[in-house]
Amino acid sequence: MTRPRLVMGNWKMNGSLQSNQQLLEQLVAGTSKQALSCELVVCAPHPYLAQVQHVLQNTPISWGAQNMSSYEAGAYTGEVSASMLLDFGCKWVLLGHSERRSLYAETDDAVLAKTEAALAAGLIPVICVGETEKEYLDGQTEAVVLRQLQAILKLSPKLLNSVVIAYEPVWAIGTGKSATPQQAQEVHAYIRELLRQCNAEAVRILYGGSVNADNAHALFTMPDIDGALVGGASLKAVDFLSIAAA
Ligand code: PGA
Repeated sequence: MTRPRLVMGNWKMNGSLQSNQQLLEQLVAGTSKQALSCELVVCAPHPYLAQVQHVLQNTPISWGAQNMSSYEAGAYTGEVSASMLLDFGCKWVLLGHSERRSLYAETDDAVLAKTEAALAAGLIPVICVGETEKEYLDGQTEAVVLRQLQAILKLSPKLLNSVVIAYEPVWAIGTGKSATPQQAQEVHAYIRELLRQCNAEAVRILYGGSVNADNAHALFTMPDIDGALVGGASLKAVDFLSIAAA
């Protein structure tokens, strides 16, 4: 099964109209010079989606959001729905990022509800999973990933094949301490096997956690790593473009 490579940038709560404009224009210029060998995506904060849409429409780069509500509309102050993301041309939405799970108490059930809402609306959910440092040291990685994915794996194979999974060990996020290619591959192979048992071999599994221009290539040589979810290094056009080139 060939799975198209995918490199996604997660800007988190960074940027301004001015700095985004520069970054986006550099990305567009960079991708018009080199043919992309992967799908390239940026996930921006909600207020900037209109700007991202304006600059990236009719380019090879697509875009998405970093979170959404599981509800369609109504009295949910501060929330953003799937249809709102579609209004601004989003194709993708990150769900269950570890920062949302740890800082905003997002549960596996909430991630499932959001996944179902995204799929129903026609967005591609990118479901983030990964263990904390303590869980890693306790040898709990597979158990944690299984718990986080259990409900998702019960989706019909047709729906399940439309999601993307990002494995991001929490201890590797924003720390400069990436998992080694072998460490990441082991977990990716485990997730791949879970997906295979559910007839979902089309699902792409991204690695995330301190991916940069120097370590991307080695990670991408691993058989079950289909791309990357990139935080810090996605804020610099040269770095993000060299990860895409890798
Ligand atoms: P990082 O973040 O690349 O800065 O480690 C990754 C992420 O949180 O998605």
